[in-house]
Amino acid sequence: MSDTTGLIERAARARSAFSTVNPHCLQSIVRLAQEMTLVACCDLVDEDGTTLCASGATVSRSIELTLGERRLQQPLETSLELVPGISPAVIADDCLALMRQTPALALLAGSGRAAVARVVGKLPLSGPLALLLCIARQFNPASYQNSLAAMIVCAGLADGLDLAEQDAELLILAALVKDVGESYLNPQLIDGRLPAREWQQVAAHPAIGHAFLTAFTDFPPALAECVLQHHERGDGSGYPRQLAAAQIDPLATLVGLADCVAALVMGGAGEFALDARLGSCLGERVAVALTLIPGEFPPAAVAVVAAALAPLAEAGSGIAGGSFAQRILPTLQQIRSARLLAEALAQSAPTPGLATIGSFSLAAIRGLDKSLRATGVYDLSQLGVLESDAQLMGKTCLIVDEVGWRLRHLARNVYLRSAQNGEDLAPVAELVAILSAPD
Ligand SMILES: [Fe+2]
Repeated sequence: MSDTTGLIERAARARSAFSTVNPHCLQSIVRLAQEMTLVACCDLVDEDGTTLCASGATVSRSIELTLGERRLQQPLETSLELVPGISPAVIADDCLALMRQTPALALLAGSGRAAVARVVGKLPLSGPLALLLCIARQFNPASYQNSLAAMIVCAGLADGLDLAEQDAELLILAALVKDVGESYLNPQLIDGRLPAREWQQVAAHPAIGHAFLTAFTDFPPALAECVLQHHERGDGSGYPRQLAAAQIDPLATLVGLADCVAALVMGGAGEFALDARLGSCLGERVAVALTLIPGEFPPAAVAVVAAALAPLAEAGSGIAGGSFAQRILPTLQQIRSARLLAEALAQSAPTPGLATIGSFSLAAIRGLDKSLRATGVYDLSQLGVLESDAQLMGKTCLIVDEVGWRLRHLARNVYLRSAQNGEDLAPVAELVAILSAPD
């Protein structure tokens, strides 16, 4: 089988997964049709041969009832056309506007700034991809702007790491489309801090995005693979497949790093959203997030980001004070309880699979505990020094807050691993609850 034949067959297989109309995507399409002109570019025919919408018809609200969750002969995504669609120039302009509004992004782009417009300018924007990008731009601006910010970070990384042009283009485009799979999820799941159980659905977005890009674009498989892996982490704590470091494409790791940095810079509902109590201190917060887990991100890439944000260092403000008992003690207690539960699971789990999950959790908790220990918070004789130095207290709180986020992420990982392995969830319920505890 030739490479081309293989790609066509993969695309056809992926396309068949989109034959059934996704209700969340359909809802967004109907909303979009109320703001823009959306036309059927071919007959919409269900699997029984019934024509549900004729070619050339303008899409209206009634299409939602007509299509329901029907199975179509041709995916809805390829059957609709926006008039006019979103153009590469609009996306490039959005990037430039974002850099003007957000000085940190301009710093992160560095001399890679020109690459963003150049790469986006020649973007092969197919109908389905244009449709989803338009939906994100209109109805999920936080996600759309996070993707643009990640593109900008990737452009700076590509420049700082002196990547080959082909890799740079792949990296920047992967950042733009990394979250297209979110259009197929219940929008209520995208916002807010989800419990581990609901988060399982969000964890599917890289795989949905991979299938979408394979089915509906001519992007190289390596780009779709980057999208599939953009939440994988080298310590196995990522998703959806919990890959080990050696299994993760280095470019996917860079997209993941850019995703984290973009979320911190943009704040809002991102997973690493800025903590209002900590003020800006963006440079320090990014440094903590990227280095807390040794080896999570390539040191050379972390150094590029740190150098880019260095001019912000003195602008850090709003360093938090507060007492040790208020700000730090709850996390130390949470870690202790979680460690005891993980130890018990590792030693006496009812199945070998759960014992492995217990051991994984224990190693992750110990790693986070080590990071906390390095700050001196366990040295009770130093508490007076810590509490009297607002700057030091603030820096320690940054680490404590990052550890808190990592514990919540571990809760999701434990739940996901258990569910994916078909394990009984009862033995991990208490551990998940402790790890998920709000700070
Ligand atoms: Fe994502």
